Amino acid sequence: MSARPDAAVAKTTVLTLQQKKQSGERISMLTAYDYPTARALEAAGLDALLVGDSLAMVVLGHESTLAVTMDEMLHHARAVARGAKRALLVADMPFMSYQAETAEAVRNAGRFLKEAGMDAVKLEGGRDYADTVRAIVRAGIPVMGHLGLQPQSIRRLGGFRAQARTAEAASDLLADAFALEAAGCFAVVLESVPEKVAAAVTQRLRVPTIGIGAGGGTDGQVLVTHDLLGLCEPIPRFARRYASLADEIVRAAAAFRRDVVSGGFPGPGQSFAIPDEEWGAFLATLEQGSRA
Ligand code: KIV
Repeated sequence: MSARPDAAVAKTTVLTLQQKKQSGERISMLTAYDYPTARALEAAGLDALLVGDSLAMVVLGHESTLAVTMDEMLHHARAVARGAKRALLVADMPFMSYQAETAEAVRNAGRFLKEAGMDAVKLEGGRDYADTVRAIVRAGIPVMGHLGLQPQSIRRLGGFRAQARTAEAASDLLADAFALEAAGCFAVVLESVPEKVAAAVTQRLRVPTIGIGAGGGTDGQVLVTHDLLGLCEPIPRFARRYASLADEIVRAAAAFRRDVVSGGFPGPGQSFAIPDEEWGAFLATLEQGSRA
């Protein structure tokens, strides 16, 4: 047996992303939460897939990301890993899976690699979480940072609002980004920060930045796939809709319903036949049964 069963697939690694920053080639990342979407996004050539804790909102219907559990994240991460073999697979550490204790954070991060086939984890927070990042990286687990709007802190932030809009807050963001880089993060997501601030951070970091609502000056871009596909309403101001799949689903489901009601579904192509002699034998059994 080959020592590298997937040797034919050019796997994207954390080094690939760092090389892209060096060469100036922009990095593309989208969220994925299930097997068919992971397959489709991989076929589209995305560099990285994020099993985001946005799962809580766009798939599970919660109002924030706070409710999603480790077990739910692992369940979806496993499905994504079955569907995508080439893209770099990153899983979000859910709320309270890393905040309370460093040892627990390392163990939970490890579960994503060991039990779900992920390549890396992402966690929210800056200088306050540098030691946690260091401990996870020391265990051999690549960590992506997440700064700016941190949805797990919306209670403290007072809602989903843009960050780093004052000189002081922008300096804090830069200090957090340097701390994450020094702690070993291989990349940093910048969410909902002014374009100029995100570009300034990007120019100063050696590791790539991936922006969402952070303008065009970052090394890469990430969006929530459900926003891009038109599966969710409303979408954030910074997102762009490339399809209207919710409308398509309504159209297809309504057409199915109409066909069921009218008797147009199923047709001969969707039904199975029984050979005449078997049918005759069956009818004979029925007749015998009714006489008995
Ligand atoms: O959970 C998520 O989808 C994310 C992206 C918004 C970056 O963290």
